[in-house]
Amino acid sequence: MSSPTFFPVTEEVAAAAWVDEAKYKAMYEQSVKDPDAFWGEHGKRIDWFTPYTKVKNTSFEGDVSIRWFEDGTTNVAYNCVDRHLATRGDQTAIIWEGDNPAESAHITYRELHEKVSRLANVLKAQGVKKGDRVTIYLPMIPEAAYAMLACARVGAIHSIVFGGFSPDSLYDRIVDCDSKLVITADEGLRGGRKVPLKANVDKALEKAPGVTSVIVVKRTGGNVAWNEARDHWYHDEMAKVSAENAAEVMGAEDPLFILYTSGSTGKPKGVLHTTGGYLVYAAMTHQYVFDYHEGDIYWCTADVGWVTGHSYIVYGPLANGATTLMFEGIPNYPSVSRFWEVIDKHKVNIFYTAPTAIRALMREGEAPVKKTSRASLRLLGSVGEPINPEAWLWYHGVVGDGRCPIVDTWWQTETGGILITPLPGAIGQKPGSATLPFFGVQPQVVDNEGTILEGATEGNLCIVDSWPGQMRTVFGDHERFIQTYFSTFKGKYFTGDGCRRDEDGYYWITGRVDDVINVSGHRLGTAEIESALVAHPKVAEAAVVGYPHDLKGQGIYAYVTLNAGEDPTEELRKELVAWVRKEIGPIATPDLIQWAPGLPKTRSGKIMRRILRKIAANEHEALGDTSTLADPNVVNDLVSSRMNRG
Ligand code: WT7
Repeated sequence: MSSPTFFPVTEEVAAAAWVDEAKYKAMYEQSVKDPDAFWGEHGKRIDWFTPYTKVKNTSFEGDVSIRWFEDGTTNVAYNCVDRHLATRGDQTAIIWEGDNPAESAHITYRELHEKVSRLANVLKAQGVKKGDRVTIYLPMIPEAAYAMLACARVGAIHSIVFGGFSPDSLYDRIVDCDSKLVITADEGLRGGRKVPLKANVDKALEKAPGVTSVIVVKRTGGNVAWNEARDHWYHDEMAKVSAENAAEVMGAEDPLFILYTSGSTGKPKGVLHTTGGYLVYAAMTHQYVFDYHEGDIYWCTADVGWVTGHSYIVYGPLANGATTLMFEGIPNYPSVSRFWEVIDKHKVNIFYTAPTAIRALMREGEAPVKKTSRASLRLLGSVGEPINPEAWLWYHGVVGDGRCPIVDTWWQTETGGILITPLPGAIGQKPGSATLPFFGVQPQVVDNEGTILEGATEGNLCIVDSWPGQMRTVFGDHERFIQTYFSTFKGKYFTGDGCRRDEDGYYWITGRVDDVINVSGHRLGTAEIESALVAHPKVAEAAVVGYPHDLKGQGIYAYVTLNAGEDPTEELRKELVAWVRKEIGPIATPDLIQWAPGLPKTRSGKIMRRILRKIAANEHEALGDTSTLADPNVVNDLVSSRMNRG
C-alpha cells in the first residue's frame, strides 16, 4: 500500500482555526493587491507609542530601500512584556526546561518584566546606549531571552552568536559589528556535557580590545578565569540596579538585531532586522501559522542563536502573550524519549522542530515515542531544510498519532519570519511541500536567465515584493546586500533556493542552488570552510561541497590538495578535521575528506563544483560535459578514489 500524498484540512481543524480556506484566499488576495490597506490594518496588532501614517515604502530596484511603518514609534520589549502586565502578569511567559530533566522553571510575565527592566539598567550602567551593539553568547537559559529583550528595551542592537561557534568565529562577529559589551555564561550544559563559553569569550577577546565589559551568568558554577577590569557577574550587577526602567522610544526602522549568516562567498554577513515590521510579521506568522490561541503551550526546539529562536521562541510568541517553552538540552539526553517526555510534562500543544531531529529519532523506532502520551499535541511544525516525505509521514503518524496537521515552514534568516507554509485550517498538506505563500508574499519561479516560469515548473525561487519582516541591509555593507540578493535577478529578491511548483500551485523547495550547504538545518558557506582548510600550513588547495547525508540532510565533503611533499596520512586527515572545528566551530566538522592530487578546473582556473558535487554524491554516470576542463584526467582520478571508499 502506498502512503497518502495529500492530507486535507479536517472540518474540525478548520472550524477551530483563525483562518479557513475561504478566509485565506480573501486575505491573501487583499494582501497582495492592496498591501498598504492590509498591513495598515495588521500593523495595529502591536502597540505603537506614535501611530504610523505611512505603511509600505519599499523598492527592490537601484539602491534597494525597504521601510515599513516608517513614521511610527514603539519598543519591542514593551510589546513583548509590559503591555501584557495588566491582563496576564501572572501567566507563565517562559517555561524553562533544563538539560537535566529534574530542572525546570516557570517565569511569569511579571517576573520577566522585572528581569528585563533590571538588565536594561545594568546595560545602561555599563554605558550601553541606543544604537550600540551587544554580543550575546549564551546557552539556552532564560537569561538569553532577558538579554535580547533588555537590548531591545534600551535600543541596543543585539548580535547573538550560537554557542557552537569557536572563539575565532565569535571574534569575527564581535569585530564586524564593533560590540563593546558581551553577555555570556560561565559554561553551557548540553547532553550532560559542559561547553566552555566564558573561556571561549576570553580567547576571542585576546584580539578584540574594543570590548570593555563582559557580563557573566553563573550557570554551572565551573571555574572561570577573571579579568577584574572587564568581567562582571550578572547576579551582582542585577542586584545593584533598580527594577524600574522606561522603554526607549524607537523608530519603526531603528535596528533591532544583527544575526550573522553564511553566504556563497566571503565571511558571514550581518543580516540586519529592524523594529516595527519585524515584530508585526513575527507575531502575525506565529499566530496564524501555528494557529496559536490564548492559553496554548508552545514549544520551538531551536536555539536562540538562530533566527528561528529569535522569531519563534522569543519575539513572535511573547508579542502574542503566549507561553513559550525554552529547552536547554538535546533530543537524545538522557534518552531518545526526551522530546516526548517534555511534551507530556508541560502539556505542550504546539511543537516546532527540525527534520534532522525527526530523522534521528525516527531511527530509534516507535517504542520511545509510543511509551509517552502526547495527548496535548494539536499541531506540529518543521523548519530548516526540506523534510523528506518518509520523515513527514513518521512525524505525522507516530509523533502526532495521525491527529495533528504539520506546518512545513520555509523561510530564511533574511526573511525574518515564515514565507511559505500551510495554514493548518486552510491549506491541505502534501508531505515534503511547504505549500503556499503567507499573506503578502509573492513567490516567483525564474530560469537561470531570469525568464518568469508559469504554472507547474521548476527553477529559482524569487520573491517579487517586500513583506514587513524582510531584512533591511547587511550591517555596514549595503552594497553587499544589493549584490547578494537583488542583482542575480534584477528587481527581485533572490532566495538562493531552487524549487518546484506543482499543478496545484504548491511549492516544493529543492534546496540551495548557490554555494551554501545546509547541515542539520545549519547553514554554512562552502567558501568559509575552504578558507579554513587552506589556512592550514600543509594545505595547498581545497574545494568543499555538500552531499546527501541520511541524518544531516547534507554532509560536508572536502577535496583537499596538499602541498608538494606532504603525505596524505590518516593522522593528517584527523588533524584537518580538528583544525576546521577550531577555526569555525563543531557545526562545520567535515564528514569526509578526500585527498585530491588535482581539482577539476576550467581553463580559466575556475573550480567546477558541479562535477565535485556529482562525485561526492556517487553520481558518476551524471558528470556531464567535462570537455572544457583544463585537465580531464583529474576527474577520473577523483572518481576512482571516491569509488574505492564506497
Ligand atoms: C535556508 C535558510 C528559517 C530558519 C532556519 C534556517 C532552508 C529552511 C526550509 C523548509 C526547505 C528550508 C532553505 C533556506 N530551509 N526551511 N521548510 N523547507 N528548505 O534559516 O539558516 O537562514 O537557512 O534553509 O534552503 O534558504 P537559515
